[in-house]
Amino acid sequence: MSARRSFTRSVVSVAVVSAATLLAGGVAVAQQFDQLYAPIAPPKSVDLGKVELGKKLYFDPRLSKSGFISCNSCHNLSMGGTDNIRTSIGDKWQQGPINSPTVLNSSLNLAQFWDGRAADLKAQAGGPIANPGEMAFSHTLAIDMLASIPAYVREFKLVFGKDKPDIDQVTEAIAEFEKTLVTPNSKFDQYLLGNKAALNKDELAGYRLFNESGCVACHNGPNLGGNSFQKMGVVEAYKGNTKNVEGRSAVTGKDADRFNYKVPTLRNVELTYPYFHDGASDTLAQAVDVMGRLQLGKKFTNAENEQIVAFLKTLTGEQPVFRLPILPPSSDSTPRPTPFK
Ligand code: HEC
Ligand code: HEC
Repeated sequence: MSARRSFTRSVVSVAVVSAATLLAGGVAVAQQFDQLYAPIAPPKSVDLGKVELGKKLYFDPRLSKSGFISCNSCHNLSMGGTDNIRTSIGDKWQQGPINSPTVLNSSLNLAQFWDGRAADLKAQAGGPIANPGEMAFSHTLAIDMLASIPAYVREFKLVFGKDKPDIDQVTEAIAEFEKTLVTPNSKFDQYLLGNKAALNKDELAGYRLFNESGCVACHNGPNLGGNSFQKMGVVEAYKGNTKNVEGRSAVTGKDADRFNYKVPTLRNVELTYPYFHDGASDTLAQAVDVMGRLQLGKKFTNAENEQIVAFLKTLTGEQPVFRLPILPPSSDSTPRPTPFK
């Protein structure tokens, strides 16, 4: 089957390892699969000044035209870094075209966005502020707002040593804050780090199914995803919303990349429902069923599905803990938000 062949080609390096380990048999199999993953490490060497400033900006709705929408509106850090709705709500209650991915552990991804159009977090962070369907502001207006608030001007100067905030500093600070949004010490990480009792019988059975049925071919590495672009609908076409979002081909211009998406991380996937780029699967049971059939041509029994879901829930790590930032108040000269215009 040609779909099968192209699937094998596209994930060839991992598939080869998997096939070899399958043949090896026994306990060695599990251990060799373990090597295809890695625990989440706490962030190293962040600039604390930038992190604190970036945290304020992340929570500041004044970076939007309405004065109402912040990064945290759609990437809510109380809810796994997502909004838990199918597609996001933007300025003036506009319906967004695509599901909001989690910001948790996104620093580990090979690129940002479902189609990978931003190379890194800094390149990503300027997008939503000026996107008419999201925060609907402009970089100039955002900088005017910040420059009108003396406490912000002082903090930018302290952190970056320049007289005036600019968009480059804004995106750099936000990206530095996002580097701290990692979730170490999940049950699966404890298992990888040597505590083999960290997973119970069902979770281990789910882990085995995840490896041996081939989920690992695309969901591997520290993020169990985030490190390659793959077709949605390898064996069977996806029937969800593919109308307004074509995937990776929007970036590469290549027809072969249509409906290829960055493989999403499965870290904290218990918290980041609904699933897929269109948010069409409400539950993990549904998402696992779709993945089995469309990507692998495999229909899991209810018991198998439950075991895989049990394994996926072991990927929930310690959520970032911090004090909610208190934002400096607007000054008399701060431009006022225009939510209804
Ligand atoms: C109106 C909702 C909304 C707002 C506000 C918003 N985002 Fe997003 N964000 C999204 C959506 C939707 C996507 C996916 C877009 C795509 O892939 O085409 C996304 C993607 C991302 C990603 C990529 C994650 C990944 O794994 O690909 C990051 C990081 C991110 N946003 C950070 C931010 C930051 C920082 C801000 C504030 C400056 C912000 N977002 C504001 C909805 C929003
Ligand atoms: C050929 C590569 C590939 C294989 C094999 C694969 N996946 Fe995926 N997975 C993807 C891609 C690509 C997406 C995103 C698809 C989309 O949103 O349209 C995804 C999405 C998911 C999601 C939704 C995550 C989210 O945040 O939206 C889950 C859960 C998931 N996969 C689990 C699995 C499981 C379990 C298996 C094995 C039964 C599996 N995947 C096999 C590539 C793969």
